Amino acid sequence: MNPLIEVSGITAGYGGPPVLRDIRLDVAPGEWITLLGANAAGKTTLLKCLIGVLPVSGGSVRFDGRPVETLAPEDRIRAGMAIVPEDRRVFGRMSVLENLRLGAHLWGGGSSGDLDRVFTLFPRMAERRSQKAATLSGGEQQMLAIGRALMARPKLLLLDEPSMGLAPKLVSDVFALLRRVQTEGVSILLVEQNAKMALAASSRAYVLRLGEIVLSGPSAELAGNEEVQRAYLGG
Ligand SMILES: Nc1ncnc2c1ncn2[C@@H]1O[C@H](COP(=O)(O)OP(=O)(O)OP(=O)(O)O)[C@@H](O)[C@H]1O
Ligand SMILES: [Mg+2]
Repeated sequence: MNPLIEVSGITAGYGGPPVLRDIRLDVAPGEWITLLGANAAGKTTLLKCLIGVLPVSGGSVRFDGRPVETLAPEDRIRAGMAIVPEDRRVFGRMSVLENLRLGAHLWGGGSSGDLDRVFTLFPRMAERRSQKAATLSGGEQQMLAIGRALMARPKLLLLDEPSMGLAPKLVSDVFALLRRVQTEGVSILLVEQNAKMALAASSRAYVLRLGEIVLSGPSAELAGNEEVQRAYLGG
């Protein structure tokens, strides 16, 4: 099967020495991929390159059969990408419903069907639709950020450490949700520090170290890899 997204040799940075070097990675339609890496390895930078807020200085990104590396973020979103950024960034003074509608508006999706779908996936959001986002718990804000990304009906969901700062029960809830999202046919590229759960949930994984992919393969294989165990599984 042709990959949904195919990253071929991208290089990127912030003006100094490149932060990412020769990154190669792909995600098949419906596949869940995990990206592991220590702090400052370049995980967020890579997601920024994929969604288009950071230009690449070399290499190519093909999405859904066409090159997208020169497209603006809004065009990539229109093409079927969505991102749940590192810091959630929900609009605190707006209600849950307004946050979802704004996401849909910004990202060009958002029929009432999208809203029904998001509320079905996240009954809690439906219950709290009129509540201001700032009054939600951290876990609920993360659900809202994921729901907002889904309003654009993406084919590929990029997630930057969605379990960060959440209690263990909520981390399980987020993973269960992502599983349901995947079941609906959405591909997932998950950046995660919670390596154990992420490897258990995904089919393949990549390890980024100092801006380079140093390991990749089936998640079960990586979970048994000595270096991965030492660095990410506390083994
Ligand atoms: N806006 C920026 N300007 C300059 N350098 C940056 C910028 N953002 C990130 N960097 C640098 O790029 C490198 C990779 O950062 P990045 O945020 O991609 O890492 P990360 O793997 O997401 O780390 P973390 O696990 O802490 O989120 C780091 O050395 C960081 O200091
Ligand atoms: Mg990061």
